[in-house]
Amino acid sequence: MRKFRLTILIAILVVGLLSMGVTYSAAQNNEQTLEVFHWWTAGGEKQAITNLFDAFREAFPQVTIKPNPVAGGAGITMKTVLKSLILAGKPPETFQVHAGYEMSPYVEAGNLQTINDIWTEEMRENIPGTLKDMVKFHGDFYAVPLDIHRANVVWYNTQIFKKYNIQIPQTLEEFFQVCKKLQAKGITPVSLGDRNKWPATHIFETLLISQGVEFYQKFINGNVEADNQKLLDTLQTFKRLLQYVNEDHAAETWDEAVGDVYQGEAAMNIMGDWANGYFKAKGWTSGEEYDIFMFPGTQNVYDLVVDCFELTKKAEDPEAGRKWLSFLGTVKAQNAFNPIKGSIPARTDAPKGPYGRVQKMFMDDLAAKQTVRVPSITHGSAVPPAFLSTLNDLVSRFVTNRNVEATANSIAQAVKSDFLPNKVKTWELGK
Ligand code: GAL
Repeated sequence: MRKFRLTILIAILVVGLLSMGVTYSAAQNNEQTLEVFHWWTAGGEKQAITNLFDAFREAFPQVTIKPNPVAGGAGITMKTVLKSLILAGKPPETFQVHAGYEMSPYVEAGNLQTINDIWTEEMRENIPGTLKDMVKFHGDFYAVPLDIHRANVVWYNTQIFKKYNIQIPQTLEEFFQVCKKLQAKGITPVSLGDRNKWPATHIFETLLISQGVEFYQKFINGNVEADNQKLLDTLQTFKRLLQYVNEDHAAETWDEAVGDVYQGEAAMNIMGDWANGYFKAKGWTSGEEYDIFMFPGTQNVYDLVVDCFELTKKAEDPEAGRKWLSFLGTVKAQNAFNPIKGSIPARTDAPKGPYGRVQKMFMDDLAAKQTVRVPSITHGSAVPPAFLSTLNDLVSRFVTNRNVEATANSIAQAVKSDFLPNKVKTWELGK
């Protein structure tokens, strides 16, 4: 009997100690910190990331988020800040990155962790194959896609279109007729805000696609010479379009240029559907105060821009990073972010209820058979970062000098010096 009592006592003690141990480690886990770098500071973007952070905090109250927003659309400034942090061995747990080529230098330098186990069956089944391929390197997953944006969109002020009885242009010639008509009425036809260069590259990319997907595929495979007629035509068209943009374009950012459409100072803006988030944040409803059409010649194309997050190798708190990534892959997270951001969810099984009209249209477009999905150049996916950086400079110079032949030459040169040596992928579009 005594022996039995002793055994029970020991058992109680052991259980007690074990549970103390468990409590102790849980208390330690309570103190998790997640540092997140991103560039979502403009109207719509800011509200979307704030809502996502709130939803994450609700799901993981033990994790403290340290947000680090770095202003500058398309990550133009954040990318530089990030590079120095990584070089200094002090990376945040996670940072915003575009799927595809933009991730490649980080992967090759060993800056990121593989996250195959974070990609649940549910995610693998419900995230499109194109996206999965874009975040996989050497057979391993390195990031979780949070959204799908579309780049080849024209946003217009419906009141201006109505006032001047303007029909949606179907061809490039019709588009220029609309521009001419608006200019004659004293309205800026197309607003541009290329202070940070990339919005000009964004238009250049849209015009490249309008020359045909076959040509775009050649371009993003680094297969383009200076005398390529379609490259010359793209630049000619761009030159023509530049007659119709606002004079102060070099002083404005992308969101200020979208703001010109909101103010009624310009009729149209060529931008990704983060502009949708901007208008929504201003209280506008699509189909009422603003509407869209796909840039002529790109009607069947979904120019994909995909924002992702990953886990850095030297993260101070990898567990917090893992929680963040697991969360981003859920329908809950995707629907906390995308309805506000203007994008559509990367999870195709996310309920459509919270989405607006344009977003629902784009969900259908993305799924449609006739749609060709292409990766964006300007937004990091399609070409090596070194080439993109040179291209931004060349296109930005072109906006001022408008020299078609010289720019085509410089682009072909940059393909040789900055693209081909860094080429790791051959794109096959429409497959
Ligand atoms: C893109 C990014 C979008 C949007 C935009 C403007 O590169 O993918 O999410 O934020 O820049 O900042």
